[in-house]
Amino acid sequence: MNICDKPIGVFDSGVGGITVLKELCTLMPNENYIYFGDSLNAPYGSKSDEEIEALSEKAIEKLCRAEVKAVVIACNTATSVAAAKLREKIKLPIIGIEPAVKPAANAHPGKTIVVMATPVTLKKEKFLQLAKSYSEIAKIIPLPCPGLAQLIEGGEETKKDIEKYLCNLFEPYMSQKPAAIVLGCTHYPHVAHIISNLFEHDVEIFDGGHGTARETKRQLEELALTNPQKEKGFVKFTSSSTNDDQIDLMKKLFDSFLPI
Ligand code: DGL
Repeated sequence: MNICDKPIGVFDSGVGGITVLKELCTLMPNENYIYFGDSLNAPYGSKSDEEIEALSEKAIEKLCRAEVKAVVIACNTATSVAAAKLREKIKLPIIGIEPAVKPAANAHPGKTIVVMATPVTLKKEKFLQLAKSYSEIAKIIPLPCPGLAQLIEGGEETKKDIEKYLCNLFEPYMSQKPAAIVLGCTHYPHVAHIISNLFEHDVEIFDGGHGTARETKRQLEELALTNPQKEKGFVKFTSSSTNDDQIDLMKKLFDSFLPI
């Protein structure tokens, strides 16, 4: 098979990366995609660096066996912990994601911006540097959300718990009237509507999915790896979970997700 015809591999700790996959499919509908959600091992956001690195490597090796031409790490946590090391080990273009602090700060200078992410992402040097670079433009408040990705993995069944979680989470920040919320975990765009509805004033929501899709396209073009086919490509969902309903949940989330 010609390398350009090969699929793009996309992976996350679970169903979060589907929000990035949707952006990729919207931007490059003619590409083929293989999605791998490591739901059996989710959440990554409370694991050690060693565990996250090992799981991410295993996920990418799995995608390599499926003969992908590039890998998108559709997980902020895995990107901040493991992307640099994996790029040294694996000879494929590896594209990561980072919280969309830059566009949020540029759009709301002088205002308060809340960055939601896993505890691991917010502790890593990569995020600390990013937040520091924009701290003179806007007031950046990191907001760790332990357990939220896991609730989102539960689908419809955990909707009430998610609403309660978010309500409690934002309560202390309401008086600061944030101008923007950055969704620094790919699971969170699945509940963006619940987050916006918590606020009485207008809050702009940012996520890194679109930027990641654009960067993927740029790299594929630069390496002459874009798929020349004119027809819509295929999307194949795979999961480490042995629960039969997991693939159905992935398809449902993919169909219902509207890019922000
Ligand atoms: N979706 C992932 C992220 O973007 C991680 C969620 C988790 O497994 O904790 O950070």
